[in-house]
Amino acid sequence: MSDLPDEFKCTITNWEYIYGLCRTVSTEVKRSEFEPDVVVALARGGWFAGRCICDFLGLDDLTSLKMEHYVGTAEKTGEPQIRYPMPEGSVEGKDVLIIDDIADTGGSIERAHEYVTDRDADQVRTGTLQLLQTSEFEPDFVGERLEEWAWVVYPWNFIEDMIDLISGVMRKAEGETFTPEEIRRLLAEFHEIERIQMEIAQPNRLNEVLVEMERRDAIDRDGANEWQLVEG
Ligand code: ADE
Repeated sequence: MSDLPDEFKCTITNWEYIYGLCRTVSTEVKRSEFEPDVVVALARGGWFAGRCICDFLGLDDLTSLKMEHYVGTAEKTGEPQIRYPMPEGSVEGKDVLIIDDIADTGGSIERAHEYVTDRDADQVRTGTLQLLQTSEFEPDFVGERLEEWAWVVYPWNFIEDMIDLISGVMRKAEGETFTPEEIRRLLAEFHEIERIQMEIAQPNRLNEVLVEMERRDAIDRDGANEWQLVEG
């Protein structure tokens, strides 16, 4: 999320919605008559989906591939890298379904497809819960296509993403200290996160995130209901 512009649209999702997308991807796989032997879930975003899709398809062979986007220290390269090699025998000779949460540039899933194919898998297919129009790679199975680019906040990294978003808006906004209500207003202004939508998707979570930010020394409480960023 670090190299995004100051203002971009975010969509907050919840478990029910995402579980529905897992079901849709699984239904597409069944309809295609592709019968994978193993699911490869890309870490970290594809884990929940990979596990649920195994359940929908009746598979007990689930393995993981850790993709990394960062090389060196601060430099972000377009090329996703594989962090750890896959265990011996995990895909060789098998029909493989590679799963990730979202195809944005499509780079991760494309690289994973290439890697698994090079490991002498038999048939290799790919699936993502969501597909953005920016993707240069077309997965075989897609839960939903998004017309408009957005940063999707998934339930499994709700706290991590909200900490990034809240720190970002506090840094960009005028002023030193902010009430929770002011933080909500900034989330709407910079990221189109409306209060009602956030409360429907993830009810009563803002205070939990603020307290966790304090625990991680990202913000300080300044008075009863005012928060300020910790510099550095
Ligand atoms: N990872 C890469 N692109 C993303 C996006 N648009 N939303 C959520 N996670 C992502």
